[in-house]
Amino acid sequence: MKLVKLLANLGYGSRKEVTWMFREGRITDAAGEVLYADDKIEHGDVRVDGEPLDPPQGLVLMMHKPAGHTCSTKDSGRIVYDLLPPRWRSRSPALSTVGRLDRDTSGLLLWTDDGALLHRIISPRSNIVKVYEATLAQDLRGDEGALFASGTLMLDGETTPLAPAQLEVLGPRRARLAIGEGRYHQVRRMFVAAGNHVETLRRDTVGGLVLGNLPVGEWRALGADEVAAIFAMA
Ligand code: URA
Repeated sequence: MKLVKLLANLGYGSRKEVTWMFREGRITDAAGEVLYADDKIEHGDVRVDGEPLDPPQGLVLMMHKPAGHTCSTKDSGRIVYDLLPPRWRSRSPALSTVGRLDRDTSGLLLWTDDGALLHRIISPRSNIVKVYEATLAQDLRGDEGALFASGTLMLDGETTPLAPAQLEVLGPRRARLAIGEGRYHQVRRMFVAAGNHVETLRRDTVGGLVLGNLPVGEWRALGADEVAAIFAMA
């Protein structure tokens, strides 16, 4: 791929803007030699203003999403894209979230620019289990585990029952819930169906990938082994 297209795809500017960057001598190789718009050169050997290029296409990231950020490009409030380098919003192919978490849910949020991977992760056929930890407005009654595991729980407005989900009680108002599906506001609606209300919700795992101690608001790129771990427990 010609360098001008590579840089435009990475969000450094429109083709016209990037062409100017070449004219200004801002694009060089690792030794500082000025490069030209139609040069073909290894990604790792290019510098923009002396800095290495952003990562190439094929990115997979994990983020510790904070509560209060929306998984949307359009919301007028805080959005998860604000937590990434601004240029990454203009990448082509686009970098998007793998599914969504509600604005008030925190925890493990995946991103990728690989459409096929994205669909594989969110496809119901992959049956990737997600684990959430919830704090609740009221004490658990004791029957929620059986209700969620029944395979017959029907959420308001839906026509098919939820697949069985596993509940682990952590305290009178704290529980961990493992679900294979990803229906709209699913965890919150499940607790509503059980006569309760979720106060805080955090996603801790997606398949075999664990949020771990990634600080809130931070993100990092995943290696191939970590991407494979997402599918490891399906
Ligand atoms: N279930 C919810 O209710 N909210 C989320 O953000 C994710 C799962």
